[in-house]
Amino acid sequence: MNITILGPGAVGSLWACYLQKAGHNVSLWTRSSAPSDVSLSLSAQENSSHTFSCNDKESLTYCDLLFITVKAWQVESALLPLLPHLSQETILLFMHNGMGAIDTVKNHIDHHPILQATTTHAALKHNKESVEHTGLGTTVIGPFNPLGEQCHFMQDVLHHALDSVEWNSNIQTALWKKLAINCAINPLTAIHQCKNGDLLHPKLHSDVLTICNEVYLVLEKNHIDWSLKELITTVNQVITATSVNYSSMNRDLFYQRRSEIDFITGYLLKQAEKHQISAPINQALYNKIKQLEENTL
Ligand SMILES: NC(=O)c1ccc[n+]([C@@H]2O[C@H](COP(=O)([O-])OP(=O)(O)OC[C@H]3O[C@@H](n4cnc5c(N)ncnc54)[C@H](OP(=O)(O)O)[C@@H]3O)[C@@H](O)[C@H]2O)c1
Repeated sequence: MNITILGPGAVGSLWACYLQKAGHNVSLWTRSSAPSDVSLSLSAQENSSHTFSCNDKESLTYCDLLFITVKAWQVESALLPLLPHLSQETILLFMHNGMGAIDTVKNHIDHHPILQATTTHAALKHNKESVEHTGLGTTVIGPFNPLGEQCHFMQDVLHHALDSVEWNSNIQTALWKKLAINCAINPLTAIHQCKNGDLLHPKLHSDVLTICNEVYLVLEKNHIDWSLKELITTVNQVITATSVNYSSMNRDLFYQRRSEIDFITGYLLKQAEKHQISAPINQALYNKIKQLEENTL
């Protein structure tokens, strides 16, 4: 396939290398306006590097798949300028944390097949030339619109490049579950600048449980089939499995970058308001992260 990766940061570069290794014709699209060739290597995995054309308008026009790997809050500004260059058959695949980012652009893109994905692979881009695959994981993809439902074959395409990839025709449920876990872990670890495992300390864990209680009420209203017990068990499992890791929001605040709070806790709060559910601890965490961002950005 002809594939363009929009936003070749850590995740985008990882997929770019694996998709090219699998035989696809991959190009990159960055903020830079000038076309160029870019070399990237999968550090620790291989000695040789991959070369990609970058910001080449012709590649964009002929791409079968636009793989969008910018952060949730970058989706609108990154994608809108590219739309006039795309064929309407181009599949749009979004892979980012949080929910609600596609809603900011959906009126402009509904004539495209649209897919959403969530992944637990972890990647770190140390510099412009190398990306490290820091954690093996799994990926789930599914349709955002009816045209996307016809793109089941993308599961095989992606699975062949970087396994394992599952197709979930109800991707919204998978995204809600990921969002619920992120709500429980990300803001607390960012505010306390602690590792995920520190949330098991009784002082912080009581907050985790209170967050889960509020999140559960919102999940229930959105018909997500998950009991409170299942939610808490999964959150505790993720905290334990990633105990030595820093969450992405922790790192964003540490490096004074804008976080994805608006599309994680912010999205939850909008849904809570819609269903008239009180969510005071999530609101307090949201306010605190916004305040910390205002002080540093
Ligand atoms: N990294 C992981 O292990 C991981 C794992 C699971 C999920 N995720 C999620 O995946 C998403 C991407 O994460 P990431 O770690 O790959 O972030 P990242 O390294 O910051 O990558 C985002 C990339 O998008 C680029 N970008 C931003 N605006 C752009 C624009 N207008 N045009 C073109 N490119 C643009 C950024 O370029 P600049 O550097 O110039 O801003 C950056 O290279 C996030 O939602 C994250 O939460 C990440």
